[in-house]
Amino acid sequence: MKTIYALFGNPVAHSLSPLMHNAAYAHMGINARYMAFCPRDIKEAIRLIREEDIGGASVTIPFKVEVMKYLDRVEESAKAIGAVNTVCRKDGMLVGHNTDWQGFIADLKMHTDIEGRKFVVLGAGGAARAVLYGLLREGGLPVIVNRTAEKAAALAEEFGCPCLSIDEMADAEGDCLINVTSVGMFPGIDASPVQREVLARFRRVIDVVYNPIKTKLLQDAESSGCIIHSGLGMFVRQGAEQIRLWTGLEPPLAIMKNIVLARLTER
Ligand code: ATR
Repeated sequence: MKTIYALFGNPVAHSLSPLMHNAAYAHMGINARYMAFCPRDIKEAIRLIREEDIGGASVTIPFKVEVMKYLDRVEESAKAIGAVNTVCRKDGMLVGHNTDWQGFIADLKMHTDIEGRKFVVLGAGGAARAVLYGLLREGGLPVIVNRTAEKAAALAEEFGCPCLSIDEMADAEGDCLINVTSVGMFPGIDASPVQREVLARFRRVIDVVYNPIKTKLLQDAESSGCIIHSGLGMFVRQGAEQIRLWTGLEPPLAIMKNIVLARLTER
C-alpha cells in the first residue's frame, strides 16, 4: 500500500518540498507519495495524521510553533528551538522533531569548521533559533543582529550569546555572516539585509534564502571577494533528515538537490 507523507502549511502551493520528496521516493523505489495540504487548523491536520494512517508530516509556516501542543512528545532539540518542522510516528505516538538545524549544520560542515569560529547571525525569528541552536551545539560562536533590537537581546539572553545593534553591525566582522531573515527572497529579490560595505570583512557569507539561488546579498558578497553559499543545501538536507526519520533509509541527496535546482533555474 502506498504510504502518504503530508506537508502542512499556509501557503504551500509554491513549496518545492513535494517535488523534492517525490523525486527521492521514486529514486529509492519506495511506494510513497508526499502531498501538500493547506489546513485551516493544524489541530484538525494532526487528527488527520492519527486517523488516516499518514506516515509522517512536514510542518511549515505558520504552524511550526502551534503544532507542538497537539503532539504526544517533542524531541529535545525541537523543544529548545521552540519549533517543530517534522512529525513522526513512533510506537503509536506522534513525535515532533526539528530537522532545520540539522540541515543547516550538515550543509555548513561541508564547507567549514564550526568550533571556535565567529558567526554573525542576521535575524531573530524561528529559522534564526534553529541556526543558533545548531551553531552553539557544534561549539560555534554566534553573535545575533536583528532589525528589532529587543528581539535580538531577548534571544541572546535565552541562548547565552552576544548581540549587536544594526548600527554596531557597520563595524562587525567574523568568519561568517549568515542571513536568516526572509529579506531578498522572491519576489523581493532586489533587497539585501545589509549594506554591501560590511561584507568585505567576512570570509564567508551564507544566505538561508534559496529562491533565488543567488540573492542580492550573495551577489554583493561575491563581488566583495567572499565565499558564498545559498540556502539550497540546508533546504535539501532538512528534507533528507525527514526522509531518514520516516523511512530509516539513506536519501539520495544529489537527486534531491538537482531537481530543486533545475526548477529554481528554469524560471
Ligand atoms: P522565520 O520563522 O522564517 O525566521 P519570523 O519568525 O517571522 O520568520 O522572523 C523573520 C526574521 O526576519 C526576523 O528576524 C525579522 O526581523 P524583526 O524581528 O525586526 O521583525 C527579519 N526580517 C523580516 N523582514 C525584514 C526586513 N525587511 N529587514 C530586516 N529584517 C527583516
